[in-house]
Amino acid sequence: MANVVVVGAQWGDEGKGKIVDWLSEQADVVVRFQGGHNAGHTLVIGGTVYKLSLLPSGVVRPGKLSVIGNGVVLDPHALAGEVERLTGQGVSITRENLRVAENATLILSVHRELDALRESGSAGTKIGTTKRGIGPAYEDKVGRRAIRLMDLADLSSLPEKIERMLTHHNALRRGFGLDEFSADAIYEELASVAPKVLPYMDAVWRLLDDQRRAGKRILFEGAQGALLDVDHGTYPFVTSSNTVAGQAATGSGLGPGGVGYVLGIAKAYTTRVGEGPFPTELFDEVGELIGQKGKEFGVVTGRKRRCGWFDATLVRQTVSTSGIDGIALTKLDILDGFETIKIGVGYKLDGETIDYFPASQGAQARVEPIYEEIEGWSGSTAGARSWADLPAQAIKYVRRIEELIGAPVAVLSTSPERDDTILMKNPFEG
Ligand code: IMP
Repeated sequence: MANVVVVGAQWGDEGKGKIVDWLSEQADVVVRFQGGHNAGHTLVIGGTVYKLSLLPSGVVRPGKLSVIGNGVVLDPHALAGEVERLTGQGVSITRENLRVAENATLILSVHRELDALRESGSAGTKIGTTKRGIGPAYEDKVGRRAIRLMDLADLSSLPEKIERMLTHHNALRRGFGLDEFSADAIYEELASVAPKVLPYMDAVWRLLDDQRRAGKRILFEGAQGALLDVDHGTYPFVTSSNTVAGQAATGSGLGPGGVGYVLGIAKAYTTRVGEGPFPTELFDEVGELIGQKGKEFGVVTGRKRRCGWFDATLVRQTVSTSGIDGIALTKLDILDGFETIKIGVGYKLDGETIDYFPASQGAQARVEPIYEEIEGWSGSTAGARSWADLPAQAIKYVRRIEELIGAPVAVLSTSPERDDTILMKNPFEG
């Protein structure tokens, strides 16, 4: 089985875009299986910059089939807008190279407004979401009142489904003292976009099964990171989907045997956007410097990312919850020139030493990191393409990380350029 799933091993923004783009060259099919247009990555191909939120990375490469699976929450207007933007950049997007699962849940204006309302502080805990309506759409999915892509193919069935959904949402609106949503407006919102998205609709489970049986190579492209997983992450400061590798099976309709090699992406340090615990966060000039050198600003929201040292305890845990076979370590060059570098190797919790990240919100907020300090390197790792190009201390840092997280570094990325990559193991040959 030569398939590969790529997942973030921290809180997202690990640099998955470059790795997925690099792997997509070897793949026949690229599949998104969770999240929505809360994700964001920038691909630079032949000097052209492409910004993607919802579409799988394969879409910018001719001859690849891109698939949006049932596990994704789909804003049909965002999809139509992204297709239009990329078409304007000369990318051809047709049914030939893009398919979207008929049973994917739709994100509507109702969800975006509710997300923004909660984030405004007037209702519920502020999570620091991307305000794209992701959480409320997943709530409707498990609440069995969602509108799904296939419903747009039968417009006569929509009014009843909209009423069912609005029974819930308008009760909330009344509770907040807000105007109710109009069923007609929602009908119009959906009917107007139906012709733009329906051409891509398909039974994705069957399509992927056919592709797999035909021996095609499938690349599953995760969004966000394992610590934002709704079960395994820093709940409630998480996204609303399962982001761990196992979701690649559920969110695409291909069984777990089809998933193959799990490549976790981890930055050589740690970042997070939004609220929530972050034990190794730096509040001093070192954190500022990492943020500046690493250009740590969100692609989707432009927010400044919080920065800190590499937390090996967290990544060891995500190696376990995602079943990671190997790591792609990114942005090592950002640590060039530091006199000393710290690695989080465990925590103190209420006077005890622990070697895992506890599950409770209170304990997660109370843990204090235990650090190991290693000597930095004065040479540059930027642009290195072989081990021989790396300063000895940088190699020591990578080896120590491998030891601490219990997984090998399969790929080392040393700059945003796709060729600045040191390959220890090709995941497709795993
Ligand atoms: P939501 O996914 O918009 O509901 O946001 C929930 C949490 O996930 C917030 O902390 C967001 O900042 C975070 N999040 C969502 N998407 C991404 C991403 O692509 N990268 C990093 N963090 C993300």
